[in-house]
Amino acid sequence: MEWWQKLFNSPIYFELYEEADTRKAVEQVRDIVRLLDLKPPARVLDVPCGYGRHALEFARRGFSVTGVDASEVQIARGREKAEAAGAKVDFRVVDARRLPFEGEFDLAITMFLSFGYFETDEEHLAMLHGIAGALRPGGRFLMESWNREFEIRYFDRHQVDHTGDVVEVEEWEYDHLKGRLNWTNTAFFPDGRRDSWWHSIRAYTVVEMRALFERAGLRLDAVYGGLGGEPFSIESEDAIFVATRP
Ligand SMILES: C[S@@+](CC[C@H](N)C(=O)[O-])C[C@H]1O[C@@H](n2cnc3c(N)ncnc32)[C@H](O)[C@@H]1O
Repeated sequence: MEWWQKLFNSPIYFELYEEADTRKAVEQVRDIVRLLDLKPPARVLDVPCGYGRHALEFARRGFSVTGVDASEVQIARGREKAEAAGAKVDFRVVDARRLPFEGEFDLAITMFLSFGYFETDEEHLAMLHGIAGALRPGGRFLMESWNREFEIRYFDRHQVDHTGDVVEVEEWEYDHLKGRLNWTNTAFFPDGRRDSWWHSIRAYTVVEMRALFERAGLRLDAVYGGLGGEPFSIESEDAIFVATRP
């Protein structure tokens, strides 16, 4: 089993994050549309889309949306939400390393620290390659990610987070030989339940990311510090990569 399956297939993920993250996605999509000056009915590919919080908001705004994710549980939840909202999203269970599209999309998005999960650089390259191939010439790609330099600079081995009444204790490590940040979350629920899960993400620098984009056939146009187009600096918590398929 890959590390992410425990977290993203678990009801706990939805219980902890779905409500607040869905609200946040509405603002994020508004910002992306503004930043890239997008007009419906442009065709949008959301990869990996999870339960489709961004895909559904793009669809609500009149865009033509395909959402892919490797988790059947996430895709099933997306379909359920689409049906409840009367929204149309083409949700598919697909591995991001093997995207089956060719020149079909005006925009592809990768949101919320969803890149860096795989063991090797080649697998990450395969995902970017598939994204480049899915775009029409001139189509754009936006990736929301962390700023690796910020994460390393403010690296904190022990962290405590609160999600409503739930306390999440995080234990972090940096694997310098693999360039990965690994961490365990343990959630303590007020009713006594407790669960733990592990993350392991390859943390690429901006320079490494640019090289990967170029190898995949994407031209990096800009790196922003936020979806509002804020300038990027070493102090930015997030890195927003915007690229074009030439
Ligand atoms: C942090 S979630 C983000 C989902 C969505 N972008 C969002 O912002 O809500 C990461 C997602 O990556 C999916 N995932 C992990 N490995 C994948 C793979 N090889 N191919 C496609 N999706 C994958 C997980 O199932 C999970 O839904």
